[in-house]
Amino acid sequence: MDRDTAFEMATSNIRFGPGVTGEVGMDLVDLGAQRVVVLTDPHLALLPPVANVRAALDAEGIEHVLFDQVSVEPTDESFQQAITFADHQDRIDAFVAVGGGSTIDTAKAANLYHCHPADFLAYVNPPIGGGKPVPGPVKPLIAIPTTAGTGSETTGVAIFDLVGLKAKTGIAHRRLKPTIGLVDPENPRTLPPAVAASTGLDVLSHAIESYTAKPFNERPRPERPLLRPAYQGSNPTSDIWALHALRMVDAYLRRAVADPSDEAARGMMLLAASYAGMGFGNAGVHLPHGMSYPVSGMVRDYRPDGYDVDHAIVPHGTSVILNAPAVFRFTASSSPQRHLDAAAALGADISGAGPDDAARVLTDRIIFFMQELDIPSGLAAIGYGSDDIPALVEGTLPQHRVTKLSPRPAEADDLARMFEDAMRYW
Ligand SMILES: NC(=O)c1ccc[n+]([C@@H]2O[C@H](COP(=O)([O-])OP(=O)(O)OC[C@H]3O[C@@H](n4cnc5c(N)ncnc54)[C@H](O)[C@@H]3O)[C@@H](O)[C@H]2O)c1
Repeated sequence: MDRDTAFEMATSNIRFGPGVTGEVGMDLVDLGAQRVVVLTDPHLALLPPVANVRAALDAEGIEHVLFDQVSVEPTDESFQQAITFADHQDRIDAFVAVGGGSTIDTAKAANLYHCHPADFLAYVNPPIGGGKPVPGPVKPLIAIPTTAGTGSETTGVAIFDLVGLKAKTGIAHRRLKPTIGLVDPENPRTLPPAVAASTGLDVLSHAIESYTAKPFNERPRPERPLLRPAYQGSNPTSDIWALHALRMVDAYLRRAVADPSDEAARGMMLLAASYAGMGFGNAGVHLPHGMSYPVSGMVRDYRPDGYDVDHAIVPHGTSVILNAPAVFRFTASSSPQRHLDAAAALGADISGAGPDDAARVLTDRIIFFMQELDIPSGLAAIGYGSDDIPALVEGTLPQHRVTKLSPRPAEADDLARMFEDAMRYW
């Protein structure tokens, strides 16, 4: 195999600061937009971030229509509702997404299919969908995150639950990256503590996964630069963002959850989410995310605190972190020093630790955060049992885009053992 020797750093423009939400109208004027679609979810539609965006648009004379039916943990059906809404507009110059990853991802999909109509599965990641590259530019998208979690404001990825498959999948292409992310520490003020915890652990896992992902130079060299995948594998620039995000998570996540009025901590977690996004958006994530997709997709009756939804869900960050200790126990032997570095950035004492300690030191630290933040003790606590493992494995196997980045190859038997290990940590 001719291995790749290059890596690229691609991300959205990011503007950070208290009150930057109020600049969105001016940004749209500067982009030449006169009529835009604002997307959000029904709960956020009643909260200040959306009111502030609408006031900023009015102040600059930008006409806008509101789509406030984004589904939390979106599905193929809810993506299609947003696409249909966009298609019914006479004119759209740009999109504005105000919300968490669910909203920002829905806006990316609405923008894509509005600009380049196609059969729904055409652009979806293979082997589930056709993996068709986005054929041309899309309209400007301004992303205004209100959770400190997904980093979707930095990436060209849109994730949804393909209900028929009972697993999540997504669409990934650099052209889907928001034009700019307005990262405003005032926006997570109203985030319920349980959502701050789950989304914050998504940041933690993004950073460790991208730092421990299979290196970029163990992948085949693409024929043309355009064919280099966005998820390139760990590389020296992603490493910087990932390690720094971990230090910020250690310093601020517990504060941000414990005290919603701690604006400094909530603001730093919002920035950490973007930092981790710049890391994983270029390096990729691996097994904790790949295994989370069926954990979310096969949900039965788990109804977490803090999520204002009328159906059972496993929030994304929870579904990821529940797999993480089992995965890092499995992968630590592939690159012990990287696993130790990640543990140290997350505040673990690694003095005297050798390669054989890497799995224990890192997973102890992750479990410490899970316990501090009141996360369920394993998959059993959210309704799964050993009988579910074959279906959980079945739902993970097609997630090639991320599972192939595991630093240690995982076959079906390995996945089954990891799901068993993830049933109960304490
Ligand atoms: N595109 C990517 O790169 C990427 C990466 C990771 C995850 N995701 C996807 O993102 C989705 C999850 O997004 P999320 O974790 O950001 O949460 P979310 O968008 O699903 O929102 C979670 C809940 O928090 C509420 N909420 C959000 N902001 C709030 C605020 N400021 N005040 C009060 N309530 C608020 C929402 O109304 C909702 O009930 C999943 O579908 C996941 O798969 C995407």
